[in-house]
Amino acid sequence: MTEGASTLGEMRLLAAEATAREAGARARRRFLDRSFTVGFKGPQDFLTEVDGETEAFIAARLLKAFPGDGFIGEESKARPPGEGGAAWVVDPIDGTANFARGVPHFCVSIACVALGRVEVGVIYDPMRDELFAARLGGGARLNGARLQASAQTSLADASVEVGWNLRAGPDQYVELLRRVASTGASPSRTGSGALALAYVAAGRVDGFVEHHIHPWDCLAGILVVSEAGGYVSDFLKGEGLARGAPLVACAPGITRALIAAASFKGIES
Ligand code: IPD
Ligand code: CA
Ligand code: CA
Repeated sequence: MTEGASTLGEMRLLAAEATAREAGARARRRFLDRSFTVGFKGPQDFLTEVDGETEAFIAARLLKAFPGDGFIGEESKARPPGEGGAAWVVDPIDGTANFARGVPHFCVSIACVALGRVEVGVIYDPMRDELFAARLGGGARLNGARLQASAQTSLADASVEVGWNLRAGPDQYVELLRRVASTGASPSRTGSGALALAYVAAGRVDGFVEHHIHPWDCLAGILVVSEAGGYVSDFLKGEGLARGAPLVACAPGITRALIAAASFKGIES
């Protein structure tokens, strides 16, 4: 990596961290005073006005600092990257159903992608004041302290988050849950894919699987997990950035077993 590229990467990391903290603080205030209405984009697909407001704040901040960059957010029309080819990929609130229901488990997720790689990933949980952050090749940190995925080697002793959404239909979810549970692993579902990935990086949970996940849910977490020494399937190959894809992420010692249990098309060990 050239010195220029590394300085730009560092600037993007600092901008993403500061923006995630401020956006998270705003969302936290709205969560606590309950000053929003709740709607739906589809079945079980919650939407509050805080989602759109928070995304507009993040886009304005990042594009002011990096006017040539692209922007892909969950709540707005994508803006293609300019010459340099970098794009921000943002979920303003991951865990919107939790946010809407008053469950304090949600986060801001900001990634920067360039040349087909995630260069920066930041996930901020404003209710616990936890900032998970990584830069490609620079390690992963939680509030500045180095992160390491767990040393787990057996699925029978592992805990695995099984992400749920209605895009694949209930039968596929039940079958995935059955496959994971039949290994002896303890399955969970906490409602924020981004935070689940951050928890894999922190060794708080050993693995994460989901049939289909959007890039704004997972790109920041993908870098945080891999920089913490964990395994992550190659989400950006094929149409992951444009259409989403299945995902497996885990402690390195359970990689083969979790890939086999998930049995996702295109993800092999
Ligand atoms: C959802 C959450 C959920 C995951 C879904 C996502 P949202 O995002 O991350 O945990 O299972 O795939 O769509 O709607 O809370 O931003
Ligand atoms: Ca999301
Ligand atoms: Ca969201």
